[in-house]
Amino acid sequence: MTSLQELIEQRGPIRKIGVFGMGYVGIPAALLFADAPGIEHVYGFQRDSPTSGYKIARLNQGESPLKGEEPGLEDLLQKVVSSGNFSCTPDFSKVAECDAVTLAIQTPFKDPKDLLPDFTPLIEGIRNVGRHLTPGTLVVLESTITPGTTAGMAREILEAESGLVAGEDFALAHAPERVMVGRLLRNIREHDRCVGGIDEVSTRRAVELYSRVLTTGQVIPMTATAAEVTKTAENTFRDLQIAAINQLALYCEAMGINVYDVRDGVASLKGEGITRAVLWPGAGVGGHCLTKDTYHLERGVQQLGPNALDFPDGRESLYTLARGINDFMPAHMLHLTTSALAQTGKTLKGSKIALLGWAFINDSDDARNTPSEPFYEMAIAAGAEVRVHDPWVDPATAPDVPAGLSKDLEAVIRGADAVVVFAGHREYRGLVAERVEGLCGCKWPVIVDGRNVVDPDAWIRAGFAYRGIGRGGKNGHSLK
Ligand SMILES: NC(=O)c1ccc[n+]([C@@H]2O[C@H](COP(=O)([O-])OP(=O)(O)OC[C@H]3O[C@@H](n4cnc5c(N)ncnc54)[C@H](O)[C@@H]3O)[C@@H](O)[C@H]2O)c1
Repeated sequence: MTSLQELIEQRGPIRKIGVFGMGYVGIPAALLFADAPGIEHVYGFQRDSPTSGYKIARLNQGESPLKGEEPGLEDLLQKVVSSGNFSCTPDFSKVAECDAVTLAIQTPFKDPKDLLPDFTPLIEGIRNVGRHLTPGTLVVLESTITPGTTAGMAREILEAESGLVAGEDFALAHAPERVMVGRLLRNIREHDRCVGGIDEVSTRRAVELYSRVLTTGQVIPMTATAAEVTKTAENTFRDLQIAAINQLALYCEAMGINVYDVRDGVASLKGEGITRAVLWPGAGVGGHCLTKDTYHLERGVQQLGPNALDFPDGRESLYTLARGINDFMPAHMLHLTTSALAQTGKTLKGSKIALLGWAFINDSDDARNTPSEPFYEMAIAAGAEVRVHDPWVDPATAPDVPAGLSKDLEAVIRGADAVVVFAGHREYRGLVAERVEGLCGCKWPVIVDGRNVVDPDAWIRAGFAYRGIGRGGKNGHSLK
């Protein structure tokens, strides 16, 4: 019998690659593979769905469906499309031509409370890989997944669909993506890459694949499960760190002090053995990743059964507790808005609110699970009239965008009783208090700053009722 190692040697170096899922992760990964030395062609496999099918034609025309600032992406796309090294297709039978296939499909949660993920799109993708899989191919899951998924669910589906055996006929690995929107290409090239196969041969083949696109980043080989835990844990830790500073911001508001002074003080303690990454507080955590990856980690440990984990009786997981604090921040923004309006003699009911920022990352169009949405819904339910501005989000393609979302900042602010900032877009950092006051046109307009983009003193001097996250020293000011 031919071993997997022999099958791979017969194929030779990886020349053709397929990438499933043309989203924030799959597009930059596919383009970098297509531009790597020795790669003949990369297929971007995108299902022709009603919400995402439009990406196929756009990508083949050299136009990125990702808006927002993404340095180098559009140029690289045009380069690999015109050189013929990249094409996007809904024809999954082309998997049979590929030496390696990666999957970068969304992995949301249906119900976080019951730890129920929605793996429907991922399962469909894995099935389509399995159906056309040929011996000696490497399959890599790049999506963030519940620990245990690569060697469990993915392996089972691939084997059932292909009739081949993982580790004998094909290689299987997990290589989680570690990108941030706004610096996708740079992150893939420069971040170290954890690569975990279900066995050593799989790990080696996956290391070969990723070594082609790394510049300063190093490959870190590990097991598939260790790679799954690494990815979910790194996002869980980030969410936890954000929750820590958000909670501190709430404490500082209660104590009438400035969280940014405290933050500088805490971060100033440096020396041997002291490592502290103090992040920034804000109006809430959004996106496809941080809002769900904690639940993948929790689910991974729960799936081991009731006796696997030794943990204090009756205590909630620190990680899910942190999720709850971050999820509270949009409600806190509403509380700040209500208190500032009350100071000017108004109520939420009947007030006009200009909500600035639907995307959750500065200067990006990524609006998935945006914290602006719960604020918007709570404010509407309380009887406010809410108009939304975002310079990047395209109402035609972004999911669940409020009716009337506008790119006209002045039109959104005109006549508003309260201006509420949810994103740190560059346009909002340049807001001038006197100009905004003129547009609002009322005595004592309200400014609620969820991303610390305005200078509180300047806006209070201009006659605003100011509230800011963690700005206890300013939130109690009297009106000028
Ligand atoms: N966005 C990030 O910054 C980031 C960072 C690290 C990891 N991740 C992880 O990477 C994965 C992908 O995230 P994303 O942000 O790129 O998602 P995305 O929603 O932007 O893209 C997913 C794409 O896959 C397509 N798709 C879905 N099912 C398919 C199928 N069966 N066949 C072919 N195409 C299919 C969708 O239509 C969509 O175009 C997730 O697991 C996420 O947690 C994301």
